[in-house]
Amino acid sequence: MTESSGLIDPFGRKVEYIRLSVTDRCDLRCNYCMPKGFKGFEQPPNWLDFDEIERVLSAFARLGLARVRLTGGEPLLRKDLPKLAARIKSIPGIDDLSLSTNATQLSKHAVDLKQAGVDRINVSLDSLDHQRFAEITGRDSLQKVLDGLEQAHRIGFAPVKINMVMTPQTSEQELDDMVAYCMDNQFVLRLIEIMPMGDTGRNAGFVDLQPIKQRLQQRFDLIDGVVPGAGPARYLKSKDGSFSIGFITPLSQHFCATCNRVRLAVDGTLYLCLGNEHKFEFRPLLRQGISDDELLEAVQHAITLKPERHEFRESPQRIVRFMSHTGG
Ligand code: GTP
Ligand code: 5AD
Ligand code: SF4
Repeated sequence: MTESSGLIDPFGRKVEYIRLSVTDRCDLRCNYCMPKGFKGFEQPPNWLDFDEIERVLSAFARLGLARVRLTGGEPLLRKDLPKLAARIKSIPGIDDLSLSTNATQLSKHAVDLKQAGVDRINVSLDSLDHQRFAEITGRDSLQKVLDGLEQAHRIGFAPVKINMVMTPQTSEQELDDMVAYCMDNQFVLRLIEIMPMGDTGRNAGFVDLQPIKQRLQQRFDLIDGVVPGAGPARYLKSKDGSFSIGFITPLSQHFCATCNRVRLAVDGTLYLCLGNEHKFEFRPLLRQGISDDELLEAVQHAITLKPERHEFRESPQRIVRFMSHTGG
């Protein structure tokens, strides 16, 4: 095996993007994500520490990894996240470092994150209505999220993307309000179809984004667009280019053929697909003193385990882990 052979999976896809979950804990309880009262969190001794994370990511980077996204749970709950971000950004080859956050604590950390080299931020926000926000997440932290977004914008994160999960309870008014808010603040809005991850995801109900996409396209006279990023969203934009909206449609129009990513959970488990249980455990190897060469081989072996596609439609019962476990 050579380093130049890269991270090519059995279906010819080049894996260049890792979603790194730095904690499985969260200060919110979005009803489609984590059950109320959930207690099954990973114990701290089983969390990869920053040295271990850096080692695994460095091995990936020697084989072609270029992008890392910090996820959770809620990643800002991990102590010293900006320090970890700076270490990741200094790994040769990693040129895109991003963060997915619920933004309740973003205003506190945004400056440190920017200085650490975080390039881009995506924020989960499903409603601008205080009562609805509280119904969805279990607590009304809306103002903190809006403060965090304002701070991120002010200090120059760009693009800032808003992730809005569409549920059967989402009203047209709520969506229209979000479109107006994103237009006013130059945020990129992305609408997401719920995935049947865990009982919470399965019980949340499903909204097909295709009719919504058509309605928005006609109403705002949108054309095909492109926004910097590495994920599965497909974009439309206004003709003057001032507004972009992305659609993440794992069920109505899946995107597995172009999948470029894997997920490293807080306990060192590499999940090869969001919609499958295929995995590879790095923590035991790291703690048994694996050599750098052996680690490179382990990474290349892990990539051979990547399955072709999710089967959310055919086998919605398959994934028992909650979205918070791997950060989406
Ligand atoms: P960009 O680089 O900005 O495009 O980020 P991203 O879309 O990759 O990251 P983000 O954390 O904002 O994810 C948005 C949504 O896309 C989340 O609901 C993720 O679960 C979903 N998503 C990301 N990657 C995949 C994937 O490989 N499969 C599926 N089914 N969903 C994904
Ligand atoms: N289906 C789709 N998206 C989900 N998220 C959490 N759970 C689900 C689910 N079951 C979203 C969050 C966040 C992103 C990382 O994943 O709202 O925006
Ligand atoms: Fe927390 Fe994100 Fe899950 Fe909401 S979707 S409970 S913000 S991990």
